[in-house]
Amino acid sequence: MPKHIIIDTDPGIDDSLAFLLALASPEVIVDGIVTIHGNASTTQVTTNALSILELAKRSDVPVYRGCELPLVQPSMLSPETHGNTGLGYAQLPAPQSQAQAQHGSDFMIEHIMSHPGEITLVCIGPLTNVALAIRKEPRIVQAVKEVFIMGGAIRHQGNTTPLAEYNTYVDPHAAHIVFHSGMPMILTPLDVTYQCIFTTDDLSRLQKIDSPITKFIADSTRFYMEFHDEYQKIDGCVINDPMTLALTFMPEICDYENLYVDVDISAGVGLGNTFADFYNYDKKSPNMKVALGVRPRMFMELFLERMEKLAKPNS
Ligand code: RIB
Ligand code: CA
Repeated sequence: MPKHIIIDTDPGIDDSLAFLLALASPEVIVDGIVTIHGNASTTQVTTNALSILELAKRSDVPVYRGCELPLVQPSMLSPETHGNTGLGYAQLPAPQSQAQAQHGSDFMIEHIMSHPGEITLVCIGPLTNVALAIRKEPRIVQAVKEVFIMGGAIRHQGNTTPLAEYNTYVDPHAAHIVFHSGMPMILTPLDVTYQCIFTTDDLSRLQKIDSPITKFIADSTRFYMEFHDEYQKIDGCVINDPMTLALTFMPEICDYENLYVDVDISAGVGLGNTFADFYNYDKKSPNMKVALGVRPRMFMELFLERMEKLAKPNS
């Protein structure tokens, strides 16, 4: 039986690759996309989400606009990482379709509450919408099936500050609400995503297929690779979000530990830092499963095979 998922997202180059992987994977059905500020403004990421769905000929998937700003922090976009449009050098036509009128957090609540135990949330951006949904309707904590979260850095260094990962840094207060909510969470931190590097060799394999999909992947990831080279001396680009999405139907890509994980919301150098109580000093029960081991090529082979399938004509 395919899983019904809602993707909460700030597309974003790696977010767009997660969309494409979901749409190419019969194991999941995308019931809706909810957009959130992050890699670009909420207006821009909502336009991007609609354009990516049109690129994949899947405008049937509804898009819901989410929050404009973090709960407390000022907005912090990432043009240096994803480009001014959020999609690197890719240039997609303006979308013909429009976002739904309902707010993204309200769609999340309505859909989860009307399908108790059936909806999987895949959170690959700042957690503002999810935190707001929890505050509006606390019962979603029990009604949601599971929550996959791309975010945090446990033993790994940050990618936004020396300590903090981008999604938990942009809205640490939202992450705090979600982490302490009691939702059934599976966290995919930088500890595992930084081992999943999409390389020029991987891109060359996809470019054997002449398709608008492979052109988009090339144009968007070329910018992303330039960022990773300049800022982090990485040969390729870290595709955090499709890796998180893949775990919804291929959990064996990673190894997990049940841990108590918290996020620093103090106004200092540690803001947004996520940490695990490995020695259980605080005697608190684990609040999430954390992916700390990974089989990178198992993931990359899956991703490349599914992109080839999606890109082939008449696919
Ligand atoms: O730190 C990586 C995460 O932040 C990814 O989800 C990326 O798209 C950005 O949102
Ligand atoms: Ca993202």
